[in-house]
Amino acid sequence: QLPDPATLAALCEELARAAGDHVRARTADHGGVARTKSSAVDVVTAVDEEVEALLRERIAAARPHDGVLGEEEGASAGTSGLTWVVDPIDGTVNFLYGIPSYAVSIAVVTGDPDPLTWTLQAGCVHAVAGGTTWTAGRGLGAWRDGERLVPRSAPPLAEALLGTGFGYTAEKRAREAAVVAQILPQVRDIRRIGSAAIDLCLVADGRLDAYYETGLNPWDMAAGALVVAEAGGVVQGLDGGPASAAMTVAGPGPLVSELTAALHRAGA
Ligand code: IPD
Repeated sequence: QLPDPATLAALCEELARAAGDHVRARTADHGGVARTKSSAVDVVTAVDEEVEALLRERIAAARPHDGVLGEEEGASAGTSGLTWVVDPIDGTVNFLYGIPSYAVSIAVVTGDPDPLTWTLQAGCVHAVAGGTTWTAGRGLGAWRDGERLVPRSAPPLAEALLGTGFGYTAEKRAREAAVVAQILPQVRDIRRIGSAAIDLCLVADGRLDAYYETGLNPWDMAAGALVVAEAGGVVQGLDGGPASAAMTVAGPGPLVSELTAALHRAGA
């Protein structure tokens, strides 16, 4: 029998805090870029790799039969039906530059570790620099530093502060820039915070009204998406189905509908 969401949420938080301690210890002397991935600007530091190794070790010790899907090492299948979806540092470019918006993101899912089909069981986003921690468990709610998050009412799109982000290839950025050019004149303003996990948690908090991004990976969004949903918000794709690599839109339901319509008109 699988552990319940409360037990899994506690384990997500324990793992995220342990990983955060490691990142904090390595902040001053992180050694810079270790390698690049999809393009020259898609960077990995040694700390990303160290933290993923640490998380895999801890997960194997606590839950030896679970699978793991991680940003740096990919997928290792398990047999229990649970898969941990981990981003050792979401916001790696901020980490590299000392901009304090980066987080450890850990979620645990049942089903394929694919946003179109998974069921999110629990998740934790631990913002390393400020120490803020968001945790959620399926059906239980979401918390920021132990304080329960409550559903929020939505402003109209014209008064909304949005978050978004950009991918790492020139082709993706050209498409994203064309969409931003259409959306920006229709809203209060747009922030590019640099960590999708933190963007989603700020939506859950009400410090961003809504968020959208194309091309997210499962580890960027898993924990944050559960935090939004368990705080009473909506996370979906452009067609109203599950969020995916194609598009993630998050916020209070009525604003998500208005933003989705604007994204359609903008050719997203
Ligand atoms: C990135 C961040 C960024 C988002 C990118 C992600 P990483 O994750 O979440 O905000 O715009 O799409 O890839 O590379 O820092 O783990």
